[in-house]
Amino acid sequence: MTSTQTVKYLRDYAAPAHLVPKTELLFDIISETEVRITATLHIEPQHGATELELHGDAKLHRIALNGETLPESRYTLDKDSETLTLHDMPAEPFVLTVETEVNPAANKSFNGLYASGGNLYTQCEPEGFRRITFHPDRPDVMGVFTTEIRADKAAFPVLLSNGNQIRSGSLHDNPNRHFAVWHDPFAKPTYLFALVAGDLAVRRDTFKTRSGRDVAIAFYTRAEDADKTAFAIESLKNAMKWDEERFGLEYDLDIFMVVAVGDFNMGAMENKGLNIFNTKYVLADERTATDPDFEGVESVIGHEYFHNWTGNRVTCRDWFQLSLKEGLTVFRDQEFSGDRASRAVRRIENVKMLRQHQFAEDAGPMAHPVRPASYVEMNNFYTMTVYEKGAEVVRMYHTFLGEEGFQRGMKLYFERHDGQAVTCDDFRAAMADANGADFDQFALWYSQAGTPVLDVSDSLQSEGSLHTYTLHVKQSLPDTPDMPAADKRPMMMPLAVALLDENGEKIPFALSGSLHTETVLTVNQAEQTYELQLARPVQSVTPSLLRGFSAPVHLHFDYTDAQLAHLLAHDDDPFARWEAGQTLYRRAIAANEAALENGTDLPEHAALAEALRRILNDQSIDPAFKALLLQVPAESELWDGRTRIDPVRTAAAREALHEALAGSLHGELLAAALNAREAENADKRGKQISIYGYNPQDAAQRSLQYTAFALLHRFDDSAIMAQVFEHYDEIARKNMTHEWGILTAVNHNESPRRNELLVRFAAKFDDQALVMDKYFMLIASSRRSDTLAQVQAALTHPRFDIANPNKVRALIGTFARNVPHFHAADGSGYRFVADKIREINAFNPQIAAGLARSFNLMQRVEPQRQALMRQELQALADMPDLSKDVREIVEKILG
Ligand code: ARG
Ligand code: ZN
Repeated sequence: MTSTQTVKYLRDYAAPAHLVPKTELLFDIISETEVRITATLHIEPQHGATELELHGDAKLHRIALNGETLPESRYTLDKDSETLTLHDMPAEPFVLTVETEVNPAANKSFNGLYASGGNLYTQCEPEGFRRITFHPDRPDVMGVFTTEIRADKAAFPVLLSNGNQIRSGSLHDNPNRHFAVWHDPFAKPTYLFALVAGDLAVRRDTFKTRSGRDVAIAFYTRAEDADKTAFAIESLKNAMKWDEERFGLEYDLDIFMVVAVGDFNMGAMENKGLNIFNTKYVLADERTATDPDFEGVESVIGHEYFHNWTGNRVTCRDWFQLSLKEGLTVFRDQEFSGDRASRAVRRIENVKMLRQHQFAEDAGPMAHPVRPASYVEMNNFYTMTVYEKGAEVVRMYHTFLGEEGFQRGMKLYFERHDGQAVTCDDFRAAMADANGADFDQFALWYSQAGTPVLDVSDSLQSEGSLHTYTLHVKQSLPDTPDMPAADKRPMMMPLAVALLDENGEKIPFALSGSLHTETVLTVNQAEQTYELQLARPVQSVTPSLLRGFSAPVHLHFDYTDAQLAHLLAHDDDPFARWEAGQTLYRRAIAANEAALENGTDLPEHAALAEALRRILNDQSIDPAFKALLLQVPAESELWDGRTRIDPVRTAAAREALHEALAGSLHGELLAAALNAREAENADKRGKQISIYGYNPQDAAQRSLQYTAFALLHRFDDSAIMAQVFEHYDEIARKNMTHEWGILTAVNHNESPRRNELLVRFAAKFDDQALVMDKYFMLIASSRRSDTLAQVQAALTHPRFDIANPNKVRALIGTFARNVPHFHAADGSGYRFVADKIREINAFNPQIAAGLARSFNLMQRVEPQRQALMRQELQALADMPDLSKDVREIVEKILG
C-alpha cells in the first residue's frame, strides 16, 4: 500500500508571516446555487515577509492588491494543500481584495457554505472558511470581521452573521432585495465565522448579566419547529447564569443567536455570537424528545455557550491544540450538568461513555495523544480522546488543586491570554503558576497516547498499637501505533482512595501527619508504595480505589467477589460503588464466555443476583443510580486488553447474563418497575396529560422503570409483548420517554407485533425528522434475526435520506454498533457498511470517515473476521477517488 497523503506535524509549527487584523466580507446571494463573495483583507506582513500564503478551495474570480488586479503570474495555487501563494507582496501593510463564487446547493459535505431546505448556513471549523474565500485559514490569525449580506427579500428574509447588526435596509438598485451589515468587535480566527440566510422563524428572550447589561437572545428555526425551542432557551439562560456564578465569566456581545439546522455534520458549533446547531440539540418537547434528549440539549447548549470564553476569547494556536478548548469546555459542560442535577449519575454516564468509546479508540489503530502530534485530515481528530479524555485531563488539575485552586488557574489563564491563540502548555502553566504547583510531569498526558494501567496490591500489618495499611501501585503504559511503551515515561495522576472496614465504615488513617477518611494520592512513578497508619484496629480492609474515577486509567486490584459485593453494598462514593458492580458483571460475562467457548453449562450467578436483589429492594437508593447499577458493561468494554475476539460470542455471553438475572430477579424487577411508575404518577393524579414533562426526578423514575422493563422482556418476552401491544397508545400518549422506553424494551422481540408497533410509530411521526431518526435507530439496533434485511429495506423508506448526517448516523451508524449483526460471521455486516462508506465518500467525506471507524476492532478480532474486514477495507483503500478523510482512517486500521 502506498500512501501519498500529506501529513502535518505539530513540530513544524511556525508563527504566521502575515496578520490580518481586519477583514470585510460581502456576500452577494444570487440564489442557493450562486453566491459571490468579495473579501477585503487588511494585511500586516511580519518581519518583512513578501510571500503571502492564503488557503482556499473556491472558484477564484479576481485578486487585487491595493485595488489593482493581480495577473495570474503573481500567484500559484497548490490544489493538494489548498494553498495559494502570492509572490512579491509589499513588506508594508496592504489591502488584498479577493473575489470568489460558490454553489451552496451543490455542497453536500456540509463544510463551508451550504444549502439546506432552501436556506444557507456555514460550518467553518476547522478549515471550512477556505471553501468560501481565500484567507490565512489558521486559528492563530485573528481579526475583526465586518460582514455585509445581500439577498432577495422573499427567499432570504433573515440575514445573520457574527456580532451585532449595525445596518440593514433595501438595496437601492433593486427594491426586492435587501442587505444587512454585521460587525463583530472581537478579533477571531476564520473558523469562528458564520453566516445564515433564509426563511426562518425566531423566538426571542433576554438575559440580564450580573453587571446589569441586557443581552438579547434569539433562536432561529424552520417555522414548524419554532414551538420546540423553549427548553433550549431556558438552558441557555441557566448556562449564562452558571458561568457567571461558578467561573465569574459574563457574556460579551449585545446578542446571542442560535440557529438550528437539520443538515449538520456534528452536534453544534460555537461561532462567535451565532451558534449553529444540529436540530437534535435544540428542538425538544415531551412529545418528541426523551429525557436523555432533553439532557443532551441542556449540555450542548451549555457547551457551545461556554466556548465563548474557552475557545473564542482564548483560542487555539493551531489545530493540534484542539483539546485546549474542547477538553476544557467538555469539563465545563459536565460540571454545569452536574450542578444542575444528579451529579453522581452524570459522572458515571460520562465514565461509561469514555470507557466504551475513548478506551477503545486508545487501544486501537487510531490511538493518539490528547494533543495529536500529526494528522492528515483535521476533521478526523474531533475525537473522544481530544474531547472526553481531554476533559478528564482538565478534571485531574481540578482534583489536584481543588475548586479554589482551579479557579485561580482559570483567572490567571484569562489574565494572560484573553484575545490570544495559545497552547495546552499555556493552560498548564497558568494552572501551575497560579498555585505554585509543579505540573511538568503532568505534560505527558498531552503527548503519550494509550490508557495507563495501574496494578494495585495491598497488605495489612499490625505491630502492637500500630496498624499499617500499605498500597503498592505499579504503573504501566501500553504500546500505541505512534510510540512503543518502552519510550513512554510514568505519568502523574491523582488516585483517590478510602478504606472500608468489615462493616462498610470508612477507616480513618494518618498520612503525612494528618488524619483522613479519604485522600488523593499522587501517583508519579513506575512503582511506589503508600503507607497509611490506621487510627483503629480492624480485621480487614477493603480499599475503595479510584474514587470518582479520579484518573482515566484501567485499575486492576485483585478483589475477591465478596469484597466487590461489600463495596457494592456500602461504598459511599457512587462511582466506586457502581464500579464494584461493573467488575462483578465483567467476571460473570467472562465466565459465560468461557462456558460458551468450551460448550459447558452456563454458570448461575446466584451471588451476583443476591447482591442485586439487595440493591433492588433498597428504597434509599436514587432510582437513576439504581438503573445504572442494573446496566451491564457494553461489549466494547469487555474487550479491553484482549485479542482474537469473537464479538458474537461476547454478545451472547452478555445476553446470557441478562437472561440469568431476569430469571432470578423477575419479581423484584416487576416491583421496581411498578414502584417507579407509581412514584412518577403520584403527584400527577387529576392533572392533565401534558404533565409528563422533563424534570430530573421523573426522569430518574422513568429510567429505572424501563431498565427493569427491558430486563423483564428477557424473562418472558411474549407476556411483555402482549402487555405492551395492548397498552401501547395509552403509554405512548404520556410522552416520548415512555414511548421509547417500551419500544426499546420489545425491540428485539421476533414476533410480527414488534414490526407492527414500529410501523405505527413511524406513521405517527412521519413529519418529525428527529423522531424518524429514532425509528431508524430502532430498526438498526434490534437483535432480531432479520435486522440487516430491515435496515436494507429502510434505505428506501421515504423519510430516509443518505445525504442527511442524522439519518446516516441513526440507521447505518447504529447498525455498525449492533455487535451481533455488524460482526455477522458471513461478513454481510461488514460488506453493508463498507458499501455505504463508498457511497457517502463521494459527497460527505467527514461522515464517511466517521463510519469507517466502525472497523477499528479489525486487528483484535479472530482471524476469520479479520480477513473479512481486511478485504472490505482494502477494497476501499484501492478506490482512486477515496477522500483523504476516509483514507487516513482506513490506512491506519490496515496498519
Ligand atoms: N467546535 C465544535 C464543538 O465541539 C465542533 C466542531 C466540529 N467540527 C468539525 N468539522 N469536526 O462544539
Ligand atoms: Zn466544543
